[in-house]
Amino acid sequence: MSNDLQFSLDGVSVCFEKGETIMQAAQRAGIYLPHLCFHPDFSAHGSCRVCIVHLQGKTVAACTQPAESNQVVQSNTPELQKARLRLIQLLFAEGNHYCPTCETSGNCQLQALAYDLGMTHYHYDPFMPERQTDGSHPDLFIDRDRCIQCDLCGRASAEYDGKAIYTLSGRGQNTQLVFRSPSGLLGDTNAGADDRAAHICPVGCILPKTGNYQEPIGTRLYDHHPIHDIGNLRKEERGGSS
Ligand code: FES
Repeated sequence: MSNDLQFSLDGVSVCFEKGETIMQAAQRAGIYLPHLCFHPDFSAHGSCRVCIVHLQGKTVAACTQPAESNQVVQSNTPELQKARLRLIQLLFAEGNHYCPTCETSGNCQLQALAYDLGMTHYHYDPFMPERQTDGSHPDLFIDRDRCIQCDLCGRASAEYDGKAIYTLSGRGQNTQLVFRSPSGLLGDTNAGADDRAAHICPVGCILPKTGNYQEPIGTRLYDHHPIHDIGNLRKEERGGSS
């Protein structure tokens, strides 16, 4: 790798390979940048904006911004951490995220980021959306109120499973997770419980119907490890345990 292929991230020199984004280079260097919709195995979505960084006077998404030589990037600033906190608070207000009653508590990246950013209250009035659940699949349950519209299930379904079952539909506040079947029900698709899409949700929107709560809340991943130490370790990468 050429010595020219380096940029500065919070004062640390980071090497990159041609074609990499700031996020990809940071991850390869072992530097955690907060994120929700990014996953190293899939195309970038650039929707959650939690990965925003300052790049020479501009605010950009690290997961979509190409790395370039001599860039000066700042991520860990009070201003950006506050902006991330507001984004997380907005997501909490936009869905119905009641952590104590959620099966994903302790394994949820939204919750873990909220803790990491010091969130103590909603800040925004809850929208209280009314979105239908979907229990039509024999093995999977869908709680759309917890969807953060990261499209990770959609990308995993299309890019890994080769099925393109999960997708987002609608605009603005009416955007929601839908399934490509004549009835619109997940149970009428060929979705499988072992599909990667079924295990990649960073929150508690896509849940298995069996085996939940076997790992007691309080003993789970983010109950003991802050997300900035662990990054985007997901259920699938922990061997599929809840
Ligand atoms: Fe970059 Fe979501 S992780 S926009």
